[in-house]
Amino acid sequence: MISVRFIALVLILAYSSHLTFSLSQIQDRRKAIQQAGVVFGASTGLIAIPTRSSVALAESVIVTNKINPIATLSDGSKFPLASFGLQVYDDNTAYKLTLTALEVGYRNFFASVLAGNQRGFAKAIKESNIPREDLYICGSVVSNRASGFDDSKSATTKGWMRNMEAFGVGGIDYLDQIMLDYPGPSCDSIRGQWSSFEEMHAQKLTKSISVSNFNLDQLDCVLKTATVKPVVNQLPYNVAYHPGSVTENSKRGLLVQAWAPLGGSTGRFDSRIKDACSLIGKQYNKSYAQVALRWIIQNGGSFTTQSKNKDHFSEDLNVFDFELTQNEMQTLNSLA
Ligand SMILES: NC(=O)c1ccc[n+]([C@@H]2O[C@H](COP(=O)([O-])OP(=O)(O)OC[C@H]3O[C@@H](n4cnc5c(N)ncnc54)[C@H](OP(=O)(O)O)[C@@H]3O)[C@@H](O)[C@H]2O)c1
Ligand SMILES: *[C@@H]1O[C@H](CO)[C@@H](O)[C@H](O)[C@H]1NC(C)=O
Repeated sequence: MISVRFIALVLILAYSSHLTFSLSQIQDRRKAIQQAGVVFGASTGLIAIPTRSSVALAESVIVTNKINPIATLSDGSKFPLASFGLQVYDDNTAYKLTLTALEVGYRNFFASVLAGNQRGFAKAIKESNIPREDLYICGSVVSNRASGFDDSKSATTKGWMRNMEAFGVGGIDYLDQIMLDYPGPSCDSIRGQWSSFEEMHAQKLTKSISVSNFNLDQLDCVLKTATVKPVVNQLPYNVAYHPGSVTENSKRGLLVQAWAPLGGSTGRFDSRIKDACSLIGKQYNKSYAQVALRWIIQNGGSFTTQSKNKDHFSEDLNVFDFELTQNEMQTLNSLA
């Protein structure tokens, strides 16, 4: 494990989900949110921008298997680095794509409440007959519209109950992980959200509890009082856009899981990005997508991605048998 010092520039961003994400994503998310019956709140805070990020793997994580690597998170649980994150589509599509993902070898799943298809996902899990203990299943709760400790706590509890109900359709009676999809509007609200997750954890309905789209201040709100600590922070992170810091998360015991690792919801990669990745990939016989995913892994992160194409699905898993050089990493680091 190489540990490289780097300087983090801390910028004040209007970190509102409305401002930082692309239009298409907002439309997708809005649609999903309408289905889920909730609305985004906005929050402001700090987010760290690494000027240089070349840690080999998050310090909190020990990776065992090289072919299909499984990280050990800071709570001791095992977490495959590559995950299939379901997008917004109907239950039947979710059902089919989950079966495809299982077939090509995915074992880690992010079935967000915002995707609106946890039931379709759960049905595929059931029909696959793959032993539950071989799967890693993560759900999510959106409760950032509530504010204050009590309201945030009860909104979050409603949220995870709804997850358990939906997953129950496929006989899934515990989760490996659940995430707060967005932080509440204040530290107090965030602590309310977290307190609810700790209760869910105490009831053994989930093995780990985690966060998504949390900046460092928001993480510190949780960490100051948490009795059970978050282990993953799911953030927008790709070669074209990576405002969060894997290392700063790692210092707090969290592994970054990239969402939109191939551009996706943050706006598709343009030809400049694709060409740069392709060029590097040629000598390894790897596609631009494989290079972009490998860059995340070598920066110490993990990823959740999605595809409707079986070949892409297996390509995206096949990123653990080559290594980018430091020069190539630097070239890729400078693309954003
Ligand atoms: N926590 C959050 O706030 C949040 C926000 C957004 C998304 N997410 C999660 O993250 C998941 C992934 O993010 P995302 O959908 O935004 O983006 P993504 O995974 O970066 O991008 C997916 C796109 O890349 C294409 N693709 C995949 N593999 C490819 C390959 N090997 N070669 C070429 N193209 C490839 C897919 O098209 P094809 O179908 O043609 O392959 C798809 O359109 C979502 O499904 C969701 O679960 C979470
Ligand atoms: C290059 O990759 C493709 C797709 O994975 C594979 O079919 C082919 O055999 C590889 N070629 C070499 C020379 O390794």
